[in-house]
Formats: sequence, C-alpha cells, structure tokens
Amino acid sequence: MAELRTQVGIVGAGPAGLLLAHLLHLNGIDSVIVENRSREYVIDRVRAGVLEQGTVDLLHAMGVGAELQRRGLRHEGVYISFNGRRHRIDMTELSGGKAITVYGQNEVVRDLIDARIGTGRPLYFNAQGVEVAALESSQPVVRFSHDGCAHQVHCDFVAGCDGFHGVCRPSIPDGVLSIYERTYPFGWLGILAEAAPSSDELVYTYHDRGFALFSMRSTSVTRLYLQVPPDEPIENWSDERIWDELLRRMTTSDGWKPNVGPILQKSVTPMRSFVAAPMRNGRLFLAGDAAHIVPPTGAKGLNLAAADVVVLARAVKAFYETGSTNWLESYSSICLRRVWKAQRFSWWMTTLLHRLPDENEFDHQRQLADLDYLTTSRAAMTSLAEQYVGLPWEVPLESVVLSRGA
Ligand code: FAD
Ligand code: DHB
Repeated sequence: MAELRTQVGIVGAGPAGLLLAHLLHLNGIDSVIVENRSREYVIDRVRAGVLEQGTVDLLHAMGVGAELQRRGLRHEGVYISFNGRRHRIDMTELSGGKAITVYGQNEVVRDLIDARIGTGRPLYFNAQGVEVAALESSQPVVRFSHDGCAHQVHCDFVAGCDGFHGVCRPSIPDGVLSIYERTYPFGWLGILAEAAPSSDELVYTYHDRGFALFSMRSTSVTRLYLQVPPDEPIENWSDERIWDELLRRMTTSDGWKPNVGPILQKSVTPMRSFVAAPMRNGRLFLAGDAAHIVPPTGAKGLNLAAADVVVLARAVKAFYETGSTNWLESYSSICLRRVWKAQRFSWWMTTLLHRLPDENEFDHQRQLADLDYLTTSRAAMTSLAEQYVGLPWEVPLESVVLSRGA
C-alpha cells in the first residue's frame, strides 16, 4: 500500500477539481487529484460552452487564460426567438459592460490539466475503487488503486468534486443532507456539426414543436440542441431527422437558419434541478455538480462549479494562514446563496422556453406573454442580462488569486 500525505485530497478532475487544485497551488497549498476516468475521456467529453464574465476573469487571473484569450468567442448579446422572429438582448449594454465567452468546457479542462501537470503536483487518472473515509476526523483519507497498486492519501480536507454520479456525496451518512430536487419531462438532444455558425450570437428558440438552441464552438463548428422526450433513444434520430427538426423549429420569417453540415457527435441529456445541503460533512466539502445540478438552459453549471471553488479556496487559505475555521464553517451557506439564485434562473429559463407535455392553452398563452414581456421591457431584459453574464462572486477574486493578466 502506498501511503501519501497532502493538505487537500481532491476527488474528480472536472472543472471544479482542476480549478480548485490550481487556486490552491497559487496559494502554496498542496493537493492530490484522483480521477477515475482517463485523461482523453475527461478532455473529449462534450459539455458546457458558455463562460460567465466572472469565470473568464478568474481563468485570466489564475494565469490559465492564454488559449481562452486566443480562441474564446466573446458575445455581447443573445437572441430569444419565438413566433418566427429573433429578438436581440444587448447583454453588455444592459449589464454595465459584461459579456459571456463561448469556449468549450473540454478546452477549459484541457488548459487546466496542462497547468496542473506544469506544477508537478500529483494527478492520478484511471484511479479505481475510489473511496473517502474518516470524514469527521481531523485526517480524512482518500483510497484508490492505480496501476494495480493500492494508495491511501491522508489529508487535512477532502474536496468532493466528482460530479453528480460520484462517490463523495453518497459517503455522507444518512440524515445529514437535505435533498431538493425536480426532474423535467423532457431532455436535450445535442449535436456538434461541422458547419460555420450562421449567427455570431446564441439563439434560444421557443417553438410549437419544442425548444431549440443554436450555439457554437468555433468559427467552423456549430453546437445545437433540441428538446426531446426524456430518455429518448438516440437511435431514433438519424442525422436527416435531426436537421429536419432543427430547421423547422429555428428558421425565422426573415429566412435565418443554421448552416447544415456533417454531424460530428450527438447525445441526449436528461434535465434536472438538484441541491444537496449542507455542502459539507466534517472535513468533506462538496463542490460543483457533486452538490447541485441545474438544467442547462441557463448555462450555469460550470460557472457555479467555479464559484464554489473560489469560496472553498478562500476558506482553506484562511485556515492555513490564520488557523481560523470561520470561512470553512460558512462555506456551504455562502455557496448556497448563489446556487439558489442560479437554480431559480435556470428553472425560469427552462419553463419559459420549453413546451410542457401537460400544459393547456392557458399555459401556452402565458408563456408567449412572458416572452413578449421579456423582449420588449428594458427592465425584464436587464434582469436576464444581469443573470446570464453572471451574478457577482460571493468573495472578491483578489482574495484568492493575484491578477496575472491574459
Ligand atoms: P464534472 O464535470 O462532472 O466532473 C466530475 C469529475 O469527477 C469527472 O471528471 C468524473 O469523471 C470524476 N469522477 C466521477 N466519479 C468519480 C469517482 N468515483 N472517483 C474519481 N473521480 C470521479 N454549464 C455551464 O456553465 N454552461 C453551459 O453552457 C453548460 N451546458 C451544458 C450542456 C450539457 C449538454 C451538459 C450535460 C452540461 C452543461 N453544463 C453547462 C453543465 C456543466 O457541464 C457541469 O455543471 C460541469 O461539468 C460541472 O463540473 P464539475 O467539475 O462539478 O463536475
Ligand atoms: C451551450 C449550452 C447551454 O446549456 C446553453 O444554455 C448555451 C450554450 C453550449 O453548449 O454551447
């Protein structure tokens, strides 16, 4: 058995785990990251694409923003489309100069893995049988096997950054967590297509046949989503059927539509709202999807993960600098304030833009009125813009990282 010792044991090398590890490194704090998938799998997994202004600022301040600066696409507006018309919301004007940046989560993860490897600190991929124990003691442990050798990491703290299906949240004893949950009666079919984006900005479409979303990954790759029944088998969707449905829902009366091209990847994602509280048990701290899930309509999941780890890094730093546990004790309540606001926004965007199987004509007319109000009232547009570009961080960035520029 290999016995290791570190300050923070991090389970999961997704955005939450990698960001936390690098923030800790910048503050001279050691960590061991344990990931059960391969490096290629973690990088290739196609997921989020929208970074809030604060997440972009964080990556730059951490000194990992060079590729983001080079290849990220800054968007100052977003379209809401219904009744065959696109309505632009000028996020930057309405939010006092902020914007979102379209940059794939897999790019963020690749940049952060490169940065981690550059630090020389440990990152184990393909770890097997990962488990966490002794969470309520002062020396919790992370155990796993790697290349056939059993490892035990003795830590001061464990960060559960292992996503919704990880092992950390289920390791918390029964009765500690309150679970708040809602599932939705639909999913998203997402594709990546080799086609130049036909719009410079995202288009969220409400259509009688269901929701559709136009996004992108680069100047030559379009990312598109369709509302489909939950658990829809992807085999039911030939490439022809996908394009036919996307064009029917998205084509506007002025003739705008997505460019069609070869489909590079397709998959179906279920939709869920979920919060586990508190985000802590003893010396285990949950961050990101391990603690909460939002339906993707508001583009908040990755950004919430970043917000959590900024608070966690602040708390761990305060502990090592002063011995104070005040920040650690407040970690969950500080994060949950922002989490619940993002939950509310994501739920609102989802119910605004999707067709609900059990809706009646009253619900339909109310939704159209909501869309009409959103696209004609400056107050309503300002509210969307403020939340879409990201609500302020709960702790100042400067308290965890000195600005390192782009
Ligand atoms: P994850 O990314 O899930 O990372 C967890 C890591 O832990 C993984 O690498 C996993 O392999 C590893 N792991 C799991 N179990 C174990 C174990 N037992 N031992 C060790 N390691 C383990 N968010 C946005 O902000 N903007 C968007 O535009 C957006 N769009 C999305 C679109 C889609 C289709 C989907 C599915 C999600 C989207 N999201 C979006 C959400 C976003 O992808 C997640 O919120 C984000 O990945 C959360 O990061 P995380 O690090 O908390 O969890
Ligand atoms: C993307 C994903 C989202 O969930 C969203 O709301 C906007 C864009 C994307 O993958 O590009």
